[in-house]
Amino acid sequence: MAETGKHIVLGITGGIAAYKSLTLIRLFKSHGYEVRVTATRHALEFVTPLTIETLSQNKLYSELFDPTEHRDVQHISMADWADCVVVAPATANIIGKYAHGIADDALSTLLLAAPKPIFIAPAMNDRMFAEPTVQHNIELLRQKGCHIIDPQSGFLACGTTGTGRMEEPENIFTIVHQHLQTPQLLSGKKVMITAGPTYEPIDPVRFIGNHSSGLMGFSLAEAAAEAGADVTLVTGPTQLATRHPRITRVDVTTAQQMFDQCMAIAEQQDIMIMSAAVADFTPEQTAPEKIKKTSDHLDLHLVKTKDILATIGQQKRPDQFLVGFALETENEKANALKKLHTKNADLIVLNSLRTEGAGFRTQTNKVLMITRDEQTFESELKDKKEIARDIIHLVFNLTQTQSH
Ligand code: CTP
Repeated sequence: MAETGKHIVLGITGGIAAYKSLTLIRLFKSHGYEVRVTATRHALEFVTPLTIETLSQNKLYSELFDPTEHRDVQHISMADWADCVVVAPATANIIGKYAHGIADDALSTLLLAAPKPIFIAPAMNDRMFAEPTVQHNIELLRQKGCHIIDPQSGFLACGTTGTGRMEEPENIFTIVHQHLQTPQLLSGKKVMITAGPTYEPIDPVRFIGNHSSGLMGFSLAEAAAEAGADVTLVTGPTQLATRHPRITRVDVTTAQQMFDQCMAIAEQQDIMIMSAAVADFTPEQTAPEKIKKTSDHLDLHLVKTKDILATIGQQKRPDQFLVGFALETENEKANALKKLHTKNADLIVLNSLRTEGAGFRTQTNKVLMITRDEQTFESELKDKKEIARDIIHLVFNLTQTQSH
């Protein structure tokens, strides 16, 4: 068993997903966490105190005024004890109460006293979840700094299918665990990351694209969010999903759209990482109708796209840190260095297509990172998620030591 020594307070409220909280208790316990549970009265209609106490190996706290507990003020001592509070499932009721500071039972009172990171995993009927008041309350919780673990779409207990199904316990565990294990190096920092390919339309059904899967950029977004940053991920078309509650995803298709979205937010960022494989050229005109094969040749006239990295490089302030990517097939290091200087980046990450297992559509990568003063850091061939963590770590170190 891994010894984390960390303390979790798990709040269970009254929804059918409460039965999944039992799995969550097991996951935390099996990874060495201490777990204390507070459950609302309605939650105890779905799961029993005996099951909770057996799995958590701790006494359940469910009554604000428990005549058998005279020793201390439980909601305060439990809030002090916790490294983190997780409310799963979180009903519309507890979300509304916490958003507006109402404290009328053990859990809602404890939440107001808990200064720790708080994770909220909503679970409810899809129409309730979409209801504007509920959405507004969730937004208020986000503004308070809570981590909202978005519900998924799927079969709901009421017999319908829609968004409102609590995220699976394994994913809730992973989000919380990674948060607690990762040093919050980028806490309070805003990070913008571009990812994926762009698609440049030729006509309504065809486009010019490339092989980028987006995995490197998505891994960077996860790594930055795990390190405490508020991440905006501007991504071209990919099959990938984002999980981390601190990632805001902006979907785009073309290089021009990616440029517009990035420029709109660049000024507010502390760190910008441009890992997208942006098309360098786009058709000058998009045919309004599908092009027919009426002749033996088709001439496409392409024009240069705007270079997002270079534009941000020109405009950035000294306190902003800019990372570019380079994919080279020859004179790799020299070309990457040239790119670093001409585009005015602070760090360039060189991918080599020559290395087997690195580059497009692979799970692994091997990179050489080069700083402005030509210090180099070479990675092993390893999982893109690990490479992403290395890059984030290096960026953090460079922002500490350089005069940005
Ligand atoms: N990039 C960008 N906007 C573009 C083109 C590229 O932001 N329109 C960024 C990429 O995200 C990457 C870096 O620029 O961080 C390098 O891109 P690359 O296409 O390899 O370099 P180019 O400058 O286009 O040079 P070349 O294609 O001639 O190698």
